[in-house]
Amino acid sequence: MSKFIIQGGKKLEGEIKISGSKNAALPIIAGTILNGGRTTLYNVPNIQDVNTMFEILKDIGATIIKKKNKIIIDTSKIHKYEIADNLMRKMRSSVIIAGALIGKYHQAKFSYPGGCDIGARPIDLHLKSFEKLGITIKEEYGEMICNTEKIIGTQIHLDFPSVGATENIILASCIGEGVTIINNAAREPEIEDLIKFLNKMGGKIKGAGTDKIEITGVKHLSEISYNIMPDRIEAGTYLIAGAITGGDVKLLNANSMHIEPVLDKLIEANCKISINKSEIELIAPKRVKAVDIKTMPYPGFPTDLQSIFGALLSTAKGTSIITENIFESRYKYVQELNRMGAKIKVEGRSAVIKGTRKIQGANVIATDLRGGAALIMAGLIAKGITQIENIEYILRGYENIEQKLKNIGAKIFVEN
Ligand code: UD1
Repeated sequence: MSKFIIQGGKKLEGEIKISGSKNAALPIIAGTILNGGRTTLYNVPNIQDVNTMFEILKDIGATIIKKKNKIIIDTSKIHKYEIADNLMRKMRSSVIIAGALIGKYHQAKFSYPGGCDIGARPIDLHLKSFEKLGITIKEEYGEMICNTEKIIGTQIHLDFPSVGATENIILASCIGEGVTIINNAAREPEIEDLIKFLNKMGGKIKGAGTDKIEITGVKHLSEISYNIMPDRIEAGTYLIAGAITGGDVKLLNANSMHIEPVLDKLIEANCKISINKSEIELIAPKRVKAVDIKTMPYPGFPTDLQSIFGALLSTAKGTSIITENIFESRYKYVQELNRMGAKIKVEGRSAVIKGTRKIQGANVIATDLRGGAALIMAGLIAKGITQIENIEYILRGYENIEQKLKNIGAKIFVEN
């Protein structure tokens, strides 16, 4: 297992180019199954979760060619409709391959997905939605076996605007007969990107970015090339890295519209933000001010930045309250941050953070992807050396994080 070693106290200054979005790339890669041919993707982040997605696709018969700035996926020879259990366990998003396999081949077999341990994370909404689409699901020895003759459009009301379930319904019903309507659909920008991608292939999907998505089934989809949107969570992470170190960071290739609630909170905390097309610059005060945060489905404050913003608030002037409304156990990082001197108390869904100037380097362990990124943030400002173990979690979701931080002045190294 590799470690990050960080020497804290360096002001971060400079430019960072934001990579393609992990959470958009994953469903789009699954969506390449639907055209049964070649798809060329640009701006795909080179991260472990994307590699796991490629492993699943290769295992079922796809070929993947990586060229300098593009990836060509050929799904014409898919011959297996089962997602290998070991790959399914590696990553929760592997479940969206099921929707694509059902959409194209009317069958899929998979076990319960794994992923970051941030709460119960059931897939009941995915399975209920499949059943609504007329798909029969047999559960045998922990495996779900899905079958249908054809996909016929229907109305689906999601009890909660689940990102993954919304994507799975879109993937399963894009090719088929009639119209599928998703009410209370998730509105995340990554879903808009998936819809743009599928519509470019010839899909007929309306309502992207709203809570009512209408999918008119088509007969087939064509071969295209597509440029994946920038990663809004990565963008937020580097702005927070600038803010926690009292620095001046400019993001290139970012979309400010996708992180408005985060920018608002950074401004409330006394950071200066300026936006120029796809560039966002943050100039931090010496010390940020305490602010309260409530995570919500998009367009609310993203749960994926809760821990990272939490690290920033642990250094703020005053007391902040975070309320986590999406995942019930997304506070595992708190114990590690407190080892570094943070003063955070968790009570149910809330965390009370008493800001302190005394964050100190320590040996800590990444408990999940974003919780691990929060530890990096704290390490950047800490007195002395921070050693973060289990960085494989962090590398699942951040492309080149060590180099990107080094480029703007951080002292961070990987030790194997
Ligand atoms: C996606 C993102 C993840 C982000 C999350 C919420 C990807 C690859 N991952 O995850 O980074 O943190 O959205 O913005 O895009 N739920 C159920 N039953 C289900 C499905 C979900 O109860 O069948 C619950 C979950 O346990 C959770 C909530 O709904 O409490 C939100 O989950 P969901 O929106 O589905 O998140 P993911 O798609 O897993």
